[in-house]
Amino acid sequence: MLISLPEALDWAEKNNAGLAAVNTPFFEGLLATIDVGERTGVPIILQFAQVHEGIVSIEDMGPAMVALAKRSPAPFVLHVDHGDDIDYIRTGLDIGFNSCMIDGSHHSYDDNVRITREVVELARERGVGVEGEIGVMTGNENGDPDQGVADETLYTDPEVAARFVKETGVTCLAASFGTVHGIYRKKPQLDYDLITTLRETTGVPIVMHGGSGLNPDEYQNCIRHGVRKINYYTYAAKAAYDAVKPLMDDENVILFSNLAVAARKGVDADVSAFVGVLADAGK
Ligand code: 13P
Repeated sequence: MLISLPEALDWAEKNNAGLAAVNTPFFEGLLATIDVGERTGVPIILQFAQVHEGIVSIEDMGPAMVALAKRSPAPFVLHVDHGDDIDYIRTGLDIGFNSCMIDGSHHSYDDNVRITREVVELARERGVGVEGEIGVMTGNENGDPDQGVADETLYTDPEVAARFVKETGVTCLAASFGTVHGIYRKKPQLDYDLITTLRETTGVPIVMHGGSGLNPDEYQNCIRHGVRKINYYTYAAKAAYDAVKPLMDDENVILFSNLAVAARKGVDADVSAFVGVLADAGK
């Protein structure tokens, strides 16, 4: 079943928990993440990021995500992740996604406000929540190993963030406080006090991007300081790869479908553990 982004965030707030927001640009990852949602009953955000168009198009994967989430008894949000422009977000909403992120963080502050407002307006007409972003997270979401070190000078400024939320009306805010997208090259130094300040000054739930690669204590500390949504892709995709790799050397395995089954199991184990850590933060 579908629930809205505000409903999912309310669940997280009431339970002092974090929501797993998992990007699923491959079918085995989608099936596995749905399975985890059904086994745990915990709300999960299924995401499709514009940057993953090179893997599969939202026009192909989106309808499968919508159909599987809707027919499931477990609660899911369908979120367009890192939308660069309003047209892409509109495409996702037309397909049936019920939540979106507009990422204007690489624009000037004024342009970020302008394009985010346009998306908030569109989302209001459709009754869906919007995530905006202030501050810059380095790294990328396609596994580039040359990135992966956070730059403190690009962390989110709480005063700018508060102004941005007031001027745009976003539902939640992606912020930079020490995480990076993709694989870390250096142990992340997370600024927990900054998360607390951002939560207090903006008044909205804080979103962590670059969720792969932290340890359970780090996830739970971020949640205790005000993070409610944690975006996650690299480690889930890596879990699929790690599960497939030994089979590639096995001469008895000759069908791609065997690899697909292994990949699904790999993602299932990884996302299960991740969802469990986030849900248990308040216990
Ligand atoms: P990771 O790939 O580092 O898990 O980050 C995912 C993400 O932030 C998607 O928006």
